[in-house]
Amino acid sequence: MPKLFLNSPAKINLFLAVTGRRVDGFHELLSLVLPLVFGDDLEVSPTTDGKDRLHCRDPRVPQGETNLILKAARLFRESVAEAPGFDFRLEKRIPPGGGFGGGSGNAVTALRAMNLILGSPLEHNELEMLAGFLGSDCPLFLHDGPVIVRGRGERVEACPDWASACEGWTILLLDPGFSVSTAWAFRCLAADSNSYTPVDRAEKELEAGMYAFREGNAGPLVRNDLGQILGTKYLIYETLFREIRDLTDVWPGITGSGSGCFFLCRGPEAASSLRPVVDDLLGPGGFLIETDVLNAQFK
Ligand code: C5P
Repeated sequence: MPKLFLNSPAKINLFLAVTGRRVDGFHELLSLVLPLVFGDDLEVSPTTDGKDRLHCRDPRVPQGETNLILKAARLFRESVAEAPGFDFRLEKRIPPGGGFGGGSGNAVTALRAMNLILGSPLEHNELEMLAGFLGSDCPLFLHDGPVIVRGRGERVEACPDWASACEGWTILLLDPGFSVSTAWAFRCLAADSNSYTPVDRAEKELEAGMYAFREGNAGPLVRNDLGQILGTKYLIYETLFREIRDLTDVWPGITGSGSGCFFLCRGPEAASSLRPVVDDLLGPGGFLIETDVLNAQFK
């Protein structure tokens, strides 16, 4: 059986509205998500002793039962009885706990790799179901391009023309150096039920935002309903975003439940004006990466 080497992309939520709470305790979302060229590398090969093993040099990645790659392997074997054990080698670049979907993307990349190695015993809809079990952010990683996500994250609509809408924009990612618990952020939001955006309004705002973005104005699209919760606890966002808006021609946003930020720049000059502002506020040489939107889905 072959060994596979796959990229495991990061993502950003360009638009994230939380439209209500579900009976299962999760939240209803409406989000425009861009998978990115920047990501981790995952090498997957079958083992002969039936055991799964994960090798990763990054100490921030959990190695035991809680690791989503190992969970994905257990789940995959429940669906494909003849599946062997797998050896996973993860080269980590995506900062964990940053809202860049690193763990979720790794889990889905592992699912896809195991399935490919065994000659695709599972159909796309079966992979989608397994991805949904693994986490709300997982199903979107089965599409290799921009998507609109609804429900808890399990309803994914491909946006084939959206990657071309992003052409001409440079995206930079920032890891401010702390991680945020997703469950905590949603819990805080749930404490004030008035903070949900009615779903009809969110849909209209997404449509208007997408239109404005195509016209060159990212302002109406870049939005995150968890932003206020994050801004109240982590004061750096207000200062950082104010300075960036005052000093550069860049739109800042928070991805997922944070802590990661993204910056949309119209061209390379705007992108290069960002580094000095970030270095000044967070210290020199921090994690600030330039990347592009991944668009492999319809090639
Ligand atoms: O699904 P995932 O494991 O990524 O979610 C982590 C936590 O974030 C959940 O346990 C839940 O508390 C919260 N969450 C939510 N609504 C969502 C996604 C996540 O309330 N749509």
